[in-house]
Amino acid sequence: MLKTKDILDEKNKMLRMVSKEVTFPLSDKDRKTIDLMVEYLTNSQIDERAEKYDLRPGMGMAAIQLGIPKRYLTIVHEVEPGIFDTYVIINPKIVSTSLEKIYVEDGEGCLSINRETVGIVPRYARVTIEGYDVNGNKINIRAREELAIAFQHEIDHLNGILFIDHIDKNNPFKDQDKYRPI
Ligand code: NI
Repeated sequence: MLKTKDILDEKNKMLRMVSKEVTFPLSDKDRKTIDLMVEYLTNSQIDERAEKYDLRPGMGMAAIQLGIPKRYLTIVHEVEPGIFDTYVIINPKIVSTSLEKIYVEDGEGCLSINRETVGIVPRYARVTIEGYDVNGNKINIRAREELAIAFQHEIDHLNGILFIDHIDKNNPFKDQDKYRPI
């Protein structure tokens, strides 16, 4: 079982690596890692388990956050209280985006950033992503709103980018009125 301490902190330079494309078949180790990531994200969003195992809540994780520079990520999205949609995607690519941009009004968060941050991170309101499932089958995911933000955030991790990089330090709320808060 993964613990919060297994997740790299922003001070770790590995988070700045550009992760490498994965080749199929997936190794048993990568399959196991994916299962652990999904388990962590699910448990972390269920209050009593998060408390019991001392997990920091999160809805997305990229392999590099565990020090594995490979292009895969998992998202566990709570669509209704206690109901989760799970996404696992390997070698993901954003193939189309909306013109409209949005941002998380309360501020974006990241399991690797353990401090308060302020500022807005503009993200596409809708994205279409192509990639592969764990068996190497091509998949296509359309995401909107919060889920779209999660995919953009996690794909950034695969390119060594953290959400704080998108915030203008001198003007953290720059161009706020151009984007829709969610
Ligand atoms: Ni993150």
